[in-house]
Amino acid sequence: MKLKEFQRELIKNKLDGAVLFFKDPNFFYFAQQEVDNSILFIPSRRKSTIFISKLDDIKSSMKKIVYKDPYKNLKEFLKSQKVKKVGINESKVSIAQKRKLSRFVKTKDVEKIILGLRKTKTKEEIEKIKKACSLTEKVLKKIIKNFYFKTEKEVKDFIKIEAIKLDCELSFEPIVASGKNASTPHYSGNQRIKKGFLVIDMGLKYKGYCADITRTIYFGNPREEELDIYNTLLKIQKKVVSYIKTGFDIKELEKTVRNELKKDEKYFIHNLGHGLGIEVHEQPAVNAKSKEKLEEGTVITIEPGIYSSYGIRIEDDVLVTSKGHRLLTKFPKELIIIPKV
Ligand code: GLY
Ligand code: MN
Repeated sequence: MKLKEFQRELIKNKLDGAVLFFKDPNFFYFAQQEVDNSILFIPSRRKSTIFISKLDDIKSSMKKIVYKDPYKNLKEFLKSQKVKKVGINESKVSIAQKRKLSRFVKTKDVEKIILGLRKTKTKEEIEKIKKACSLTEKVLKKIIKNFYFKTEKEVKDFIKIEAIKLDCELSFEPIVASGKNASTPHYSGNQRIKKGFLVIDMGLKYKGYCADITRTIYFGNPREEELDIYNTLLKIQKKVVSYIKTGFDIKELEKTVRNELKKDEKYFIHNLGHGLGIEVHEQPAVNAKSKEKLEEGTVITIEPGIYSSYGIRIEDDVLVTSKGHRLLTKFPKELIIIPKV
């Protein structure tokens, strides 16, 4: 969390502070916790203040104000601090919130600033993402080690129960897609597991930070050409990961995948990846249109896929370091074959 940096940006933008509302991921980013019905005020200098309802009791080093009427209390507080103009996250405030706030303070959108800060992670954030990845892989290992599931839903339910046991949330609804179902990258059905490739795309969220991993396994006896296509995709995925380092052109990552896939390029129907943090999809976008270069401290996913009458996707989470990269997901990628469904 980069509070000091944000405060510097507020000053640069002639803002006296910023107001963020609960449910906005940026609220979580700066408050480091989710508090229902609360409002966060980050002044451009000094400590933040959190306005909470009397129903909540939170542990925090921030100044706490238990409100009777949130907007009335906020108004009084901002007035006492001589706050005239605040940054808000336009895309996450409701029309009603903005209207009420605008009655007593001027506002300016600071979403771009916050998303820019969130793009590169602090050491503490990286540790949390690493932990999210290792816990996710622990669950994935359990699924594969003793695969007794008959339906896609059973696998998803298992992931959810294991996440609860590990005190984690889910980064997103898991995707478990077998046979031709896997030809839809975000398939959401619950059918009986079919023969062929099975895509498992899952992530646990640890202390608010997401993991996102995909592995594709095989049920039955793969044909030679199925092994070839899997291994081709795996080779490409590894090659692209090997390119990752600070300063590398992001668009070249996806372009490499598309070039290497040759005639199968048309079957790769989504972006190569995305940034990962408190949200499962955040900056930077990892696609062929990107104009950005990789920055140190960024965590991105690399997830090439092929979708035809079947689906294969292989996804890792990767930390960009000054000299190269570090894989945060370490689960084996060689095709795991389970002979019987
Ligand atoms: N893991 C789901 C996605 O990245 O879209
Ligand atoms: Mn992903």
